[in-house]
Amino acid sequence: MDHIILIGFMGAGKTAVGKRLARQMDLTFVDTDDMIEEQQGRSISDIFAKNGEAYFRSLETEVLCQLLDSKERCVISVGGGLPVQKQNWPVLRELGTVVYLEAEIDTLLSRLKYDTKRPKLQGGNLKEKIETLMEQRKDIYVKTADLRVTTDNREFHQILQEIMEKTAGYCKM
Ligand code: S3P
Repeated sequence: MDHIILIGFMGAGKTAVGKRLARQMDLTFVDTDDMIEEQQGRSISDIFAKNGEAYFRSLETEVLCQLLDSKERCVISVGGGLPVQKQNWPVLRELGTVVYLEAEIDTLLSRLKYDTKRPKLQGGNLKEKIETLMEQRKDIYVKTADLRVTTDNREFHQILQEIMEKTAGYCKM
């Protein structure tokens, strides 16, 4: 399929960039976290608190697989932890072109410092949490991605421009 899938750490801008990109390219915007919350009728925090992270991860795989049936071309923003799960790798590949939105730790920190909604970041030292998770995930993001685009100190229009140019010129084998 021919979707554009945005991956990256929490706060990298997947949702904000994804919505704007979809509007600009006249595509449908889809967010796996939103799909989960809609289908479950409750928040991600509630799912983590009541059913645990492993259950949330299984829901992520479920909604990702549902997107394989999508008839229209979409920009898909996936949760920051979704690419970590090995079972999602072939699904991401099949869905389309995977773009890794990169950001420095300090950028992420400034974007996430008032966050209260992301269970993986609550309690303790935020910078340490981000660093530890990023250390575990960064190689996976790079490996899963077809293309990489940095978001540090850049305007949305510059990021969109780069994604559109790179995805247009990218031919997946
Ligand atoms: C998570 C990222 C969140 C959400 C959940 C877990 C993670 O999505 O899926 O809180 O493990 O990185 P965003 O990356 O859209 O914030």
